[in-house]
Amino acid sequence: MARVSSSMPPEEPSGDPSRSIFAELRARDESTGATTSGPMTFAPRPAPPPPPPPGSPPDPPPAAVEPSPAPPDELRRDNLPRVIAIANQKGGVGKTTTAVNLGACLADIGYRVLVVDLDPQGNASTGLGINVRELETSMYDVILHDAPLEDCIEGTAVRNLLVAPSSLDLAGAEIELVPAFSREMRLKNALDQVRDEFDYVLIDCPPSLGLLTVNAMAAATEVLVPIQCEYYALEGLGQLIRNVALVQKNLNRDLRVSTIVLVMYDARTKLSDQVAQDVRDHFGEKVCRQVIPRTVRLSEAPSFGQPIIAFDPTSRGALAYRELAKEVSRGPA
Ligand SMILES: Nc1ncnc2c1ncn2[C@@H]1O[C@H](COP(=O)(O)OP(=O)(O)OP(=O)(O)O)[C@@H](O)[C@H]1O
Ligand SMILES: [Mg+2]
Repeated sequence: MARVSSSMPPEEPSGDPSRSIFAELRARDESTGATTSGPMTFAPRPAPPPPPPPGSPPDPPPAAVEPSPAPPDELRRDNLPRVIAIANQKGGVGKTTTAVNLGACLADIGYRVLVVDLDPQGNASTGLGINVRELETSMYDVILHDAPLEDCIEGTAVRNLLVAPSSLDLAGAEIELVPAFSREMRLKNALDQVRDEFDYVLIDCPPSLGLLTVNAMAAATEVLVPIQCEYYALEGLGQLIRNVALVQKNLNRDLRVSTIVLVMYDARTKLSDQVAQDVRDHFGEKVCRQVIPRTVRLSEAPSFGQPIIAFDPTSRGALAYRELAKEVSRGPA
């Protein structure tokens, strides 16, 4: 699997590293010799150099081979952690593509990112190289059986990007959850245990407004809505916005639609422009300036289990998602 070269130094989570999920995953990797989830790329923070003995000459400056990477402090951190539900009850509008690729690009900038796959289809999991048939623990166990979220988290080929995979069992969760205690708050309670280990948690929702999506909205502080630049794109958005308002009123006062992303934009068609303009007129500053183009490479990447920045780093889709990650990380409107 291709490895993404990060322009940032590896980011080690703060706090006691022996108790972090990142350290746990490395330990799990070392003890088994392999993971089911592809190569781990969480490099340990290099030990600081020993202090020079007194009186020794100062070190020569390092050779200027490459421009030195921006220190992680330059990343915007004052608004973290952010938990973002990626939702739209319409099917096939780019939720998963955005969860995977925005997540990978945020991780590549240097943020610690968790993608939570809350869709029984498991597309975000397979798109990040996870074989969902081989999982011992998935989001089903977390949501239905109170398994600790950290037990189901897996590494990916992208440094700083982890995934909590889904499995087909989750399809039954909408029904199995109905009689469950605190059924809307299952994900929030699970996330509370690991939230501080991450800068961004992106929750990939299924194409419905059922209990799984309600769990995502109860756990998040923001909703990101991908909108296809196509006819009927705005259909159903009213219902989505009303549901966000209902969750906000009854379960999660902090929730709001913070970000709209225009996806599958085709510059050759007038329709794309019209839809983009309509959405901007309606949602104003919430709409990201960066649009995601419709490109074949973006649709090919998942079958290789890779985000676009690993699959084809210089493609238009990769550049667009990189820009989107920068824009999103600057903060919600
Ligand atoms: N910008 C794009 N250009 C071309 N194809 C795209 C783009 N974004 C997504 N696709 C493709 O469109 C299809 C639907 O995308 P995706 O799976 O991300 O949507 P979704 O909203 O998660 O779908 P679902 O509702 O089924 O979960 C996929 O085959 C994906 O590869
Ligand atoms: Mg999806």
